[in-house]
Amino acid sequence: MQRRVFLGTLAAGAAALGRRSAAEETKEKIRLGLIGCGWYGLVDTEAAFKAGGVEVVGICDVDNAHLLAASERIRDGQGLSPRAFKDYRELLDLPGLQAVVIATPPHWHALPVIEACKRGKDVYCEKPLAYDVREGRAMVEAARASGRVVQIGFQRRHSEAIRQAKAYIAEGRAGKIVSVAAHIHYPAQLEDPTPVDPPATLDWDLWCGPAPKLPYSRQVGHFNWRTEEAYGNGHLVDWGIHWIDAIRNVLGLGMPRSVQSAGGLYRLKGRITTPDVLTAHFEFEPCPVTWTHRIFGQAEVSPETSNGMFFYGEKETIFLNDERYVVYPTAPGPQLSPPTGTGEHRTVEAKNDQQTEHVKEWLEAVRTRGKVSCPPEEAYRSTAAVQLAMIALKAGGRVDWDADKEQVRDNPKAAALLKREYRAPWVHPWKG
Ligand SMILES: NC(=O)c1ccc[n+]([C@@H]2O[C@H](COP(=O)([O-])OP(=O)(O)OC[C@H]3O[C@@H](n4cnc5c(N)ncnc54)[C@H](O)[C@@H]3O)[C@@H](O)[C@H]2O)c1
Repeated sequence: MQRRVFLGTLAAGAAALGRRSAAEETKEKIRLGLIGCGWYGLVDTEAAFKAGGVEVVGICDVDNAHLLAASERIRDGQGLSPRAFKDYRELLDLPGLQAVVIATPPHWHALPVIEACKRGKDVYCEKPLAYDVREGRAMVEAARASGRVVQIGFQRRHSEAIRQAKAYIAEGRAGKIVSVAAHIHYPAQLEDPTPVDPPATLDWDLWCGPAPKLPYSRQVGHFNWRTEEAYGNGHLVDWGIHWIDAIRNVLGLGMPRSVQSAGGLYRLKGRITTPDVLTAHFEFEPCPVTWTHRIFGQAEVSPETSNGMFFYGEKETIFLNDERYVVYPTAPGPQLSPPTGTGEHRTVEAKNDQQTEHVKEWLEAVRTRGKVSCPPEEAYRSTAAVQLAMIALKAGGRVDWDADKEQVRDNPKAAALLKREYRAPWVHPWKG
C-alpha cells in the first residue's frame, strides 16, 4: 500500500465528515486499538478509515520501528497520534478503548483475542483463527461467553464474485457439484535463513511469545514467518485457507470427516520448513475438496487460473477467484478419450473492495450490536480443516475427524498435535 493512497483515503473520509461538527464526530467515532502494526495491520486500518467513523487511539507492536512507522501514518491521516504500547495488555487498559484490530502472526492471535473479549472489547482478528486447533476452540468459547462482536479476517466473505457464484451454484445451474479443486502455483518469497541478531528495535523473545523461540533469521521474522512451521505453518494455512473458507461458504460445508495429505520439501529444503509441494484431500459432506500448491519455479503457464477454485458440476465447471467466475459447459454425453469439452465459456467479472466491506460490516455490527459474516465459529472450521491437513502430513498421511466430539479418531499421534505446548510464562487457553 502506498503512503499516498493511504493518506488520500483518509483525506476523502475527512472531507465527507466535514458536514457534521467535530464534537459530534468525536462522540460517535469508534475508539479503536491496533495490535500488530505490520503489513496487514495497516491494510485493516486503512479499510477502517475508508469505512469511516473510527479513531485509532492506541497501537501496539513488539518492534519499535513498526510502532513508529504506524504511529506516523495514523497521525498524518487522522490528525491525532495514537498512544503506543509494546504489551497488548497495556493497550487493552487504555480508557475509552472500544474495539481492537488484531493483526499479529497466528501464534499471537489466541491470547490477545481472548483477553480483549474478557475486557469487553469488540474484536476484528486476522485469519487464520489460531495456530492450533485447541486455541481456536478456546477463542470460540471466549467470544461467545463475552457477547462481543468478533469478526475474523476472511474478507473473501465479501467478494462480489464469490457471492454471485454462490447464488449461481445454489440455483443449480451448474448441476450438482461433484468435487472441488483449489490451488496456487507461484514462487514463495525467500530470505536468508542464516541466524543473525534480531534488529535492535525488535523484541524477538516477545515476538515468539507462546511459540518456540527459534534463532532469529530474516526467513522466520516479519512477513516471512508464513513458511516457518513454528509460526505460520505453511502456504495452505496462510493462503490456501482463504479458498477453503470460500468453498465452505459457497457450498455451506461444515468440517471434513477426513483429511489426507502428501507432500514435502522437494526444492526449498534448508530454506523453509513447510511443504513446497502439497496435496491435501478433504472429505467434506457432500463432496470432496482438494488443495494443491507448488511454491517454487515458474508462477504458472496459465496465469488466469493459477490461483483459484474449480467447482466441477454435473452440467458445468466453474472457475472462481475473488474477481471473476468463468462457466465452462460440460460436453453432452459420455466423454471417453479424449474428453475435450466444448471450448465454449462465459466469464462474469465482479470486482469490489472486499477488504473494506468486511471491516465495514464489523464496524456497523459494533455500532448496532449486529451480526458479522465470519464469526469465530465459522473461522474455526476453516482453520481447523487446514490444521488437520498439516497434522495428517506428520501423522501417517490421514486424519479422521469426529466433528461432534471434536476429536481425531484412532490416531494418537495426530490427536497429540491438536494442541501445542506454550512456552512459559504464557499459558495455553484451552482447558479441555
Ligand atoms: N486477510 C488477508 O488477506 C491477510 C493478508 C495478509 C496477512 N494476513 C494476516 O495478518 C496477520 C499479520 O500478517 P502480516 O503479513 O501483517 O505480518 P507482519 O509480520 O508484517 O506483521 C505482524 C506484526 O505483528 C507484530 N507482533 C508480533 N507479536 C506481537 C505482539 N505480541 N504484540 C503486538 N505486535 C506483535 C510484529 O512485530 C509485526 O509488526 C497474520 O495473521 C496474517 O495471516 C491476512
